[in-house]
Amino acid sequence: MEKTFLMVKPDGVKRGLIGEIISRFENKGYTLNRLEMVTPSVEVAEAHYAEHKEKPFFGELVEFLTSGPVVAMEWEGEDIVAVSRLMIGKTKPLDAQPGTIRGDFASTMSQNVIHGSDSVDSAERELALWFAGVASHVS
Ligand code: TYD
Ligand code: MG
Repeated sequence: MEKTFLMVKPDGVKRGLIGEIISRFENKGYTLNRLEMVTPSVEVAEAHYAEHKEKPFFGELVEFLTSGPVVAMEWEGEDIVAVSRLMIGKTKPLDAQPGTIRGDFASTMSQNVIHGSDSVDSAERELALWFAGVASHVS
């Protein structure tokens, strides 16, 4: 069965949205396999967003992700990578439809409550980084 990496970002945790977000995926019928609450190190945050390292917003993005605890999760279900991205909604607030998580709970692009892997390959890489890879990055 397909797996993905979903993460409640620091703004979502601070705003008390962990339960709301987990409920949406549970209600959809997906299975929560792993969950860890952790304040990411700069190393893990930079590795997570490595594809964006040349972007002008990279520094601010890493600073935001390391600003407090996140809830890192492995979820499983049919076509979960693509469907969870639909449930999360678009990155730009103007494009994030009402009914999606970002459409309902995020008003800015930089602080948008949740991350979800954008492909099966990204999901494998991110799950390895946040779970299998955590110990080696923290030590
Ligand atoms: P991206 O991978 O494009 O979006 P998504 O989270 O939908 O996969 O970008 C990663 C994060 O970077 C995004 O959630 C918010 C932040 N970001 C900005 O702050 N400014 C930007 O212009 C973009 C494109 C993203
Ligand atoms: Mg992305």
